[in-house]
Amino acid sequence: MTGFQEPPFKKVKNENGFSSDVSNDGQQCFKSNNGYIMKNNIQNGGPYSKQCAGTIGLEKSGATQNAGHMKKILKQRHSLPIFPARQKLLEELKKNDCVIVIGETGSGKTTQIPQYIHEERWDRKGTICITQPRRVAALSIAKRVAEEMNTNLGALVGYSVRFEESVSSATKLKYVTDGMLLREAISDPLLSKYSWIILDEAHERTVSTDVLFGIVKAAQSNRNCPDKDPLKVIIMSATMDVDHFSNYFNNAPVLYLEGRQHPIEMFYAKQKQDDYVLSTMSTVFQIHKESPAQHDILVFLTGQEEIDSVAHSIRQVAKDLSLAEFPKLRVHPLYAALPSHQQLDVFRETAPGERKVIISTNIAETSITIPGIKYVVDSGRVKIRSFNPSSGFDVLKVKKISQAQAWQRTGRAGREAAGYCYRGYTQEEFRAMALNPVPEILRSNLASVILQLLAVGVKNILNFDFIDKPSPDSVREAVEQLSVIGAIIASSDNLELTPAGRRMAQFPLEPRYAKAILCGPEHGCTDEVLTIVAVLASETIFVNPSGKKELAIRARQKFHSVEGDHITMLKIFRAFKSSKENKMWCHENFLNYRNLSYAVEVRRQLVQICQRCNIPVLSCQQNLEPVRRCLTAGLFTSVAELQIDGKYLTLSSKQECSIHPASVLFGGKPAYVLFTDLVHTGKAYMHINSIVDADWLYEVAPEYFRTRHIKKVCSAVGS
Ligand code: CDP
Ligand code: MG
Repeated sequence: MTGFQEPPFKKVKNENGFSSDVSNDGQQCFKSNNGYIMKNNIQNGGPYSKQCAGTIGLEKSGATQNAGHMKKILKQRHSLPIFPARQKLLEELKKNDCVIVIGETGSGKTTQIPQYIHEERWDRKGTICITQPRRVAALSIAKRVAEEMNTNLGALVGYSVRFEESVSSATKLKYVTDGMLLREAISDPLLSKYSWIILDEAHERTVSTDVLFGIVKAAQSNRNCPDKDPLKVIIMSATMDVDHFSNYFNNAPVLYLEGRQHPIEMFYAKQKQDDYVLSTMSTVFQIHKESPAQHDILVFLTGQEEIDSVAHSIRQVAKDLSLAEFPKLRVHPLYAALPSHQQLDVFRETAPGERKVIISTNIAETSITIPGIKYVVDSGRVKIRSFNPSSGFDVLKVKKISQAQAWQRTGRAGREAAGYCYRGYTQEEFRAMALNPVPEILRSNLASVILQLLAVGVKNILNFDFIDKPSPDSVREAVEQLSVIGAIIASSDNLELTPAGRRMAQFPLEPRYAKAILCGPEHGCTDEVLTIVAVLASETIFVNPSGKKELAIRARQKFHSVEGDHITMLKIFRAFKSSKENKMWCHENFLNYRNLSYAVEVRRQLVQICQRCNIPVLSCQQNLEPVRRCLTAGLFTSVAELQIDGKYLTLSSKQECSIHPASVLFGGKPAYVLFTDLVHTGKAYMHINSIVDADWLYEVAPEYFRTRHIKKVCSAVGS
C-alpha cells in the first residue's frame, strides 16, 4: 500500500456543539440535574493547594519520585477541569450517600476523586474501591495515581484484576475490575471492607457493572443501620442516560463536570467505504502527509489481530516515506490483551521530530486518556460479544458503533487544543446509527453471572433489582445451561446451587471450564485440565509474524497432536516448562513468552483454588484421553457432528459450521468435534477444537443427549 486514494473525506461544519468549555467568566462549573449551576471560581480552590501539598508530604513512605517531578505532577493535577470544582464536589459527597458524576473523558474523575476523598481522611473506616470494566484501565490508572501520590504501587494505591493483584494492608485506593468486585461480593455481600465504592465507566454497562449496581445498592441499604459502617457510593460516567440512573439510585443527585473541550473540525467519508480497514489506513497517511506538524493521531479499529496487522502495514509504508519530509512515525497498538509494559508505552511523550499513531480498540474511547492527540480517525466499528439465542453461543462480531460512541471518539481529538476528527463513514451512515449501545446484559450469555448471583444468595433472578432486566428467554437459556452442567437445580420459582455449582462459582472462569476442572479427580487428570484452562484464559500463545507464517507453523509442527488443539496447547505448555520457561526457546518456536508466562501464573492460582476446595491435582502423564473426557464434561454443549455431505452441524442448535483453518484438525473430518468458540467471519468457524467420542457425550450428559439424536458417522479421515 503506497499510493493514496483520493482523500475520502469531505469537510462539514462542526455540528455537534463541541465548544470551548470555559464559561464566559472563565470559571469552571458543576451544574446539578435540576438545572442549577454551581459555579466554582478557580481562585476559590480554598485551602486545597496547601492541603494537597501537605498530603503528598504525608505519603512519603515508599516515595519514588524526586521533588521536581512531584511539582510537575501537582501542577498537572491542579490544571485538570475537576480541580476547581473539588470543594463543591466534596460538599455534595458529604451530604449524599449516592452521587452520580458525569464528566468528559480526561477531566480527572477516575484519578482525582478517590484522592480527594483520601485527602479528607474519609477512608479511615475502609478502603475506597474504584471499579473499571477493563483490566488495562485498572492497571494503568492505579500506576498513575500511585505516581501522583508518590507511593509505590501496591502500597497506598493498589489494583486487583483477574489473576493479577498488587494490594497490601496499607492500600486505601484500590482500582479493580468490575468482575473482581463481583467475585468479592460472593464471600462478602455487604462489601464491608470498603467505605466508598466508585462504579466508574457506568455508561459502558458491562454485565458485571450492571449486576454491581444491584449488589452495591443492596449493600448500602443493608449497611444503613447503627451497628454497621455506612457505605458511600459514587457512579461515574462520561455519558449516560442520567434520568434512568438517577431514578434507579433513589433520585441521587447528578453532578455535571464541565470539561475542557476544544473545537473539533469534522470530516465525513464522501461515500460509503467498502473496506474500512484500508480507508482508515489511507486516512492516517493523508493526515500524515498533509499536516507536517507532529501532533499525534488516534485511530479506532476493532480487535487485536486487525490492529496488529494495521500497525505492521503502517510501519512498512512509513519506512518508504522520506524522513526529511515527514515526521517519524511511532506506531503503538492498544488493546486490552496487550502486555502491560507495551500498554504503558502509549503514554510516553513523543520526541521532537516524531509523531505517535495509536491504533486502539474502543478502550481509548473513555477509559484511557492519552495526552497529545490532535487527530482522531474513527472506523465507526467495534468488536462486541453478543449472545445468539438461536444458536445458544456468544459470538464476537464487528458491528457499527452507536452515535454516543462516535461522539466520545471525536471528543478525544479536542482534549488539549483544537483538533480534527475523520469519520470513515458518511453523514447518512452516521444518522442511521443507534443513539446508544445496547447494554451487555441484554445481549450476552448470562450463565456466569447467574451462577455468581446465586452464590451471592440471590435466588429469584428475575426479581433481582436490575437497572435493565434481561429478557426471560435469555435467563431461561442460561438456567438451562447451568442445570445441564449440574451447577444448579431449578424448581418452579427458585434456583438452588448444587455443591458442585458452589465449587464452580469459586473459579473466576466460565462455568463450563470450572465444570471440566471439577471432573479432573474422577479421571486423574486435574493437572492437565488446569493447564489447558490456564492457556485458554491467556491471550494467544502463538506468534505468526506476517511474511513468516509458514515458518512459524513448521516450527510448531512438532507439538501438533492428532487429538486436537487442546492437547497441542498442553504439549506446548509442558515443553515450555521443560525449557525452564526460556524466552529464547519461545522465540525459536514462534510462541509468545509473555502469554505463556501469564498462563503459568494463572495455573498457579487455579491450583490454589483447587487446594482451597479440596480438589486433588493429579496428573495422567502421557495417556491424555481422560483430559479430553473432562473437557467434554464441561463443553458438551459445544460439539458439532459431521454430516453425510461433509459439513458440520452443532448438536445443540443444528447450526452449520466448519473447522477453523488455524486448527490442527483442519483438513481432517472427525465425526465429533468439541470446540471452544464459534467465530463468525462470513461463516461460522469452530475455533480451538478436540476430537471427542459420541459415547462420552452420553456418559457425561445422558439427560441432555437423550433428547438429541446423535448419528454414528465414521470418520472419513484416519479410520
Ligand atoms: O476519569 P477521567 O476520564 O475524567 O480522567 P482521568 O482518567 O482521571 O485522567 C485525568 C488526567 O490524568 C488525564 O487527562 C491525563 O492527563 C492524566 N493521566 C495520565 O497522564 N496518565 C494516566 N495513565 C492517566 C491519566
Ligand atoms: Mg475515567
